[in-house]
This record gives sequence, structure tokens and C-alpha cells, in this order.
Amino acid sequence: MRTGVCYFPEHWPRERWADDVERMAAAGIDYVRMAEFAWSRLEPEPGAYDFKWLADAVDLVGDRGMRAVLCTPTATPPKWLLDEYPSVRQERPDGTPLEFGSRRHYCFNSPAYRRESRRITERTAERFADSPHVAGWQTDNEFGCHDTVRCYCDDCASAFRAWLRDRYDTIDALNEAWGNAFWSQEYADFCEVDPPGPTPAYHHPSRLLDYSRFASDSVVDYNRLQADLLREANDDWFVTHNFMGDFEQLDAFDVSADLDFAAWDSYPTLHGQRAPDTPDPAEAAAATVQRGGDPDVTGMNHALFRGASGGPFWVMENQAGDVRAYPYSAEPADGMMRLWAHQAAAHGADVVSYFRWRRCRFGQEQYWGALNNYDGSPDRGLPEAAEAAAEFARLPDLDAPVGNVAVLFDYDSMWALHAERHAPEFDYWAHLRTYYRALRRRGVTVDFVPADADLGGYAAAVAPALHLVPDDLAARLADYVADGGELLLTVRSATKDEHDTLRDELAPGPLTDVVGAHVEQHESLSPGLETRVEFDGDAYGYRTWAEWLVPDGATVVGRHRSDVAAGEPAVVRNAHGDGHATYVGVWPEANLADALAVDVLDRAGVPIGDRLPENVRLSERDGHTWVTNFRVDAVSVDPGSNEIVLGEDTVSGRDLAVVAGPSHEITVERS
Ligand code: GAL
Repeated sequence: MRTGVCYFPEHWPRERWADDVERMAAAGIDYVRMAEFAWSRLEPEPGAYDFKWLADAVDLVGDRGMRAVLCTPTATPPKWLLDEYPSVRQERPDGTPLEFGSRRHYCFNSPAYRRESRRITERTAERFADSPHVAGWQTDNEFGCHDTVRCYCDDCASAFRAWLRDRYDTIDALNEAWGNAFWSQEYADFCEVDPPGPTPAYHHPSRLLDYSRFASDSVVDYNRLQADLLREANDDWFVTHNFMGDFEQLDAFDVSADLDFAAWDSYPTLHGQRAPDTPDPAEAAAATVQRGGDPDVTGMNHALFRGASGGPFWVMENQAGDVRAYPYSAEPADGMMRLWAHQAAAHGADVVSYFRWRRCRFGQEQYWGALNNYDGSPDRGLPEAAEAAAEFARLPDLDAPVGNVAVLFDYDSMWALHAERHAPEFDYWAHLRTYYRALRRRGVTVDFVPADADLGGYAAAVAPALHLVPDDLAARLADYVADGGELLLTVRSATKDEHDTLRDELAPGPLTDVVGAHVEQHESLSPGLETRVEFDGDAYGYRTWAEWLVPDGATVVGRHRSDVAAGEPAVVRNAHGDGHATYVGVWPEANLADALAVDVLDRAGVPIGDRLPENVRLSERDGHTWVTNFRVDAVSVDPGSNEIVLGEDTVSGRDLAVVAGPSHEITVERS
């Protein structure tokens, strides 16, 4: 486990580089990421390259015993390129082209941009292929940031039509699959199908879903183009990409198939502020008010990108100070640079790299904090980052965590659900997090897997809001349960097929036999309505969504207790072969989510401990367990018969300990 930093030599006079790099090495940093966005300096005029400055910076880094991570500069095509090829500009749904003057203004499907991207990638990669100091590459930067996965230009229209032809073969098959008899939406030819621009009323959900898939696939292709070129230049390099937290539009599993590992950019006080886990945004912002972010918002992204990597991942950018974010931008609490680094390592990060080394004096990001201030003096985070680096050096090298519970994460279902939420609060990330939180408060290591993953190695699998279930997926889930798996399904699951259309039979369609029940009614609920449910003899609250179930072989283990739903089955459990399926027809409050999780974990034989104090988490990696305390107050740790190898048995607020032992043997209590 190592630390890194993001550095932009092109922003500083050369005389300052040596001092910056010297101090990075002194802070224990191992990796320096550079050249992100530097196209105008690498190729100031078409075909006139200048790699000397970057080569000098790479050598400086190498001379101090660190390694460089270089980036393809394609997130920021320079002005001359835009002027030469105006068609590369991305277009909004109403046809407005994005202007020069910011970043991510290009279209992934522009043939001209693919040609230009190939050229700059090839030339830069060739130039550094023999450098002993370059460890690997980041492709582009944050694909999709600022809502840029989905473009609506003419190049995208042509590419979308080709994508549809490939998928459906005939236009009749497309009309049938989407159900275009509705509102006279039938097409006579693929060339009639446009990207979904502005319409008076809502769009056809099947068309939206395919556009979401097509747009994500376009990024996959574009990333592959770069990854292939980089590997051709030097196949010892790693190739990664820096994804974003809670980001909807891009399938991280698909993009990562062409990467050596995934990386992501973690800004805990920003993501914590945005996460809509509660219907009350002021409450959601409370996590940020605590200035440490929300451990499960950050943790769930760590788990997702570990899943996308299929092993260790990187945090390519970790928040290093305040963030230029809206609505609020509080300074992180003392200790967070170190605690966030350990939290990431505990989840399987091999490198935590801070954004950025030095706050920039000009441009759009003067208000983003850094490890150093813009005058070069150390800022609050630097000593903490250095402490984390020193502690990492004292810990052994560890393999990635291995979960015993799988959470199925399905981008298709998210895209379909978010196009038809039925309640403003129906957010896929937030729904998953309800169950993730419950599992994590029991110290469980959770693996995030795509819906088509092999679940054979997992005693329990949780599939929250798995909305689109094609027949083959239903068959695999049924086999998993029949073979002894414990499957937890939740609201809106298997309601539709892969085209986002309802089936002939009621939900959960092809899973009805496994679940032993079907859904008779569903409703979305505004905050303020009474929502009570009874599970296993205890009463709980729920939010946002409710279903009334009709058992057909399943045991009713939970019933509605409010209003028109009173008395209707809300949770059922069904034995199927050697395992069980549990179907939860409400979005549970935290205590009910805990009861449901414990119920499934017990039957699956997953060892768990007591419920952890709020905002304290145990994370196990290769036989070591981190106790991370995101609270303000201290907690006491009883490590059982295991040794505490870092920290002590009293862990102060925003502090941590590492125990050489499994998480279920560790007890944590408020001091
Ligand atoms: C990230 C981005 C960086 C920088 C950073 C600001 O989203 O990748 O380039 O803009 O935010 O902290």
C-alpha cells in the first residue's frame, strides 16, 4: 500500500519543480500523476510536439525514487483542434454544441476525434516507452464528468443506428422489442431512429434504456482504443482510468474489462453531501457537516471499484482539503487525510493518491484545496498524508479483500429505474446503500459484482432493485438458490425484461417460482405518509416504495401495518432446493435492514459480530482488520485473541487501529 499525488508541472515555473518533488519524496509519496489535461503544452500547434518539459519532470520524479503515472490528455482538446474540427464538439439533447473553454467538450463517437486521440496517444506513448520512471497510464480523465457520457450529435445518431442494427438485426424486431405500437412510435427503417432529444411528454423507456447502453458502450470503445495503443507501446505499463463516485451513466465493469485495474476519485465531503439516502437533503448534508464524509458512501464506491478491478484498485484522486463544490465546501475534520487513506487501503486500494499537490493559482480550480497552499507552504493535510505513507510502509503487503456476501450491481436496472423513478427519492445508489450499510454495520466484507457474475462462491447474495431480469439471469439466480444460496431480493425486482417492458406474468416474472409469491400492488410514497411494517414480530418504518405480495408457497414473514396496505404481506421467504429466497416489498429503515441482513447472514452461516456503533466500520483485508472511527468521540476495541498492530485499544474520533485478525472476532463499543 502506497501513496501518490497529482501534480501539474505546467502550472509552475521550472525553478519550483525540484523543491516540490523533493518535498513529495520527503512525505513518503511513491507515485506522481502528471500530464492530465496538458495537450496544449504537449502539442502547441498541430503536429508540433513538445515532450521535453514532461520528460524533465518525469526524470526529476524518477531521480527522487518515485514513479510517474502519465495521462492521455484527451479530456481537454486544445483550441486549434476545435477550430480545425468543429464537429468533435459534444452536443446537448437540444443540439447545442459544447463550447471551448472548459473540459470534456468532445464527442466519443466523432471519427475526427478518435483519429486525433489515436495520434496524440501514440506519439506520447512512443516518447515515454523507454522511460524507466513511468509506471503506467491513466486514460483520459473522469469519463462522463459534467454529464458528458450521452451526446446527441450527428455522429452519435449514426453510431446509435449502427448499434441498434447490430443488436436487433431488423427494424421489426426493434419495434416489437420496444413496443412501438404505443403512441404510433413505429419505425420503417433504422435510419429513422434519432437520439432521444427534447419531446413534449416523456420518452419511450425502451429507447432511453438503449440510448444509455449505447452511450456507455461508446465510452468503452473509446477507452479501448487508448488502452490498446498504450499496451502496444510498452506492455509492462499498467493502464487504468479514474472513475467517479456514485456515477450513473457509465458501466464501470464494462470499461474496466480493458484496464489492468480501476481507479476512482474520492471526494468524501462532496459525495456525502450529494448522496440522497434520506428524503431530507439537509440530513444528507449532515454527513458533510461532520466533515468526514459518510463512511458508507465512500466505502460503497471502494467496493464497487474493487469489484470492477476484480482485485486491488487505486484511489487516483483523494480529496486533500476543501472542495469547490456546491452547495457547501467545509474543511475536512482533523485527521481525515490519514483516515480516508486507511479506509481505502482496508477496502483494497493499493495506492491512495491525493488531488493535488499544490493548490492552483489560476483557472477554474483556485478554490480546490491541496496538500500544499498556492504559495508552496504545507497545508493542513500534508502531515497527515505523510503519516499515512509512513504507516503503510510499516504494514505488510496484503492481497485484496475477499467478500463472503455479493451485492449485485446492475447498470441496466439503474438506467431503467432512474428513467422512471416514480418517486423523487427513488435513487438506486441510495437503495443499495440501505443494505450495504446494514451489512457493513455487522462487519461483513461485501463484494460488488455485475448481475451476470458467477455467485457460486458466495453463501449469500443481495440483489437490491434488480429491475430488469432476462430469462437467462433468472435461471442463474434460481440455480444459485437451488444449490444452497441465500438470495435477498428487494422492491421492483424482476418487474421487466431486458427491453424495459413488462412481461405477460406479474412481477417478479421469471423469479416467481423461486420467490414463491407475486406482487399484487405497488405504490410510491411521499414523505409524511404513515409507513409501518411488522417483521418477525417487531414493528419498523419504511420509506418511498411499498408492494403488497401474494404468497404462493412462500412463508409470510412481514406484513404491512398502515393505511390501505394494513394486513397485506410485505416480506416473504421461500425455500427453493437447498437455499432460500427472501423478497422484501418495502424500502426498509436502518433497523429493519439490519434485521433482514442478520436473518439472511445467519441462515447463510456468515460469521458476524455485534452491530457496530454508528460511523464505526470494520474492514477486513487479507487477515488484517481496520477499525475506522468516523465519529467525533472515542471507541474501545476488544480484539479478542488477536494483536493490535497499529494504534491502540482506544480509538479516538477520526482515528483507526489495525488488528491482525478477522473482523468477526473484534468487538467495538462506545467508550
Ligand atoms: C476531479 C477531476 C480533477 C479535478 C478535481 C478537483 O473531478 O478529475 O481534474 O478537477 O476533480 O478536485
